Amino acid sequence: MSFINLIAIDGPAASGKSTLAELIANKLNYFFFDTGVMYRAVTLAALEQVKNLDDEAKVTDVANRIRIDVQPASVQDGRVMDILVDGRDVTWQIRTPEVDRKVSKVSAYAGVRKAMTEQQRRIGERGNMVMVGRDIGTVVFPDAKYKIYLEASPEERARRRFVEVQKRGEPTSYEDILASIRKRDEVDSSRAVAPLKPADDAHVIDSDGKNIDIVLEEALQILGNPVS
Ligand code: CDP
Repeated sequence: MSFINLIAIDGPAASGKSTLAELIANKLNYFFFDTGVMYRAVTLAALEQVKNLDDEAKVTDVANRIRIDVQPASVQDGRVMDILVDGRDVTWQIRTPEVDRKVSKVSAYAGVRKAMTEQQRRIGERGNMVMVGRDIGTVVFPDAKYKIYLEASPEERARRRFVEVQKRGEPTSYEDILASIRKRDEVDSSRAVAPLKPADDAHVIDSDGKNIDIVLEEALQILGNPVS
């Protein structure tokens, strides 16, 4: 199977994957799909429905039971899309520090990943898509024609995320965000199932010290400037 029209963008927390993916999708008139929202949605639902997130069977059951929908933004409050869990708008609830702290734990469960990977494959099959995550090029669509792995130092990523969270008016500190990013990187990279790592055939872009225009230019070169 070859997914010629699928562009996989993977990388660690807050590396700018979604921003880059959105720009590429707009330029190519592709769909943009961020798989991180699915793991965040499962985590939020698990926090609400399961007392102890160490209970892998119960968390996996939540992942299999809930319905996650993504639709065009219905409110102009800075969101790119609406994220719904069982019909309820959770667009901002999935971005809280609590979800940030727990999402890597939930995402490491094999049954959770199986459920999400199946859904992502169905979504990606429609083609003309930029799909963002941790394991898109390695596990979800290993046959994607284009694979980009976006890197940046933890400090640079924490700075970017700090600005984002501040803009939303949420109380936070750079140090807390840096610690949370480091922790997530560690858990995401060391898990047994689908760990975060570049696919062997991925193009790695290091975005340290580069603004988004430069990163976009590098990405478009990798994609062979299909719409120049
Ligand atoms: O936006 P940010 O980089 O902070 O995170 P995200 O892309 O929303 O992903 C949140 C978490 O979901 C990650 O830290 C991973 O634990 C998990 N995730 C994953 O395991 N596999 C994916 N394909 C996407 C996200």
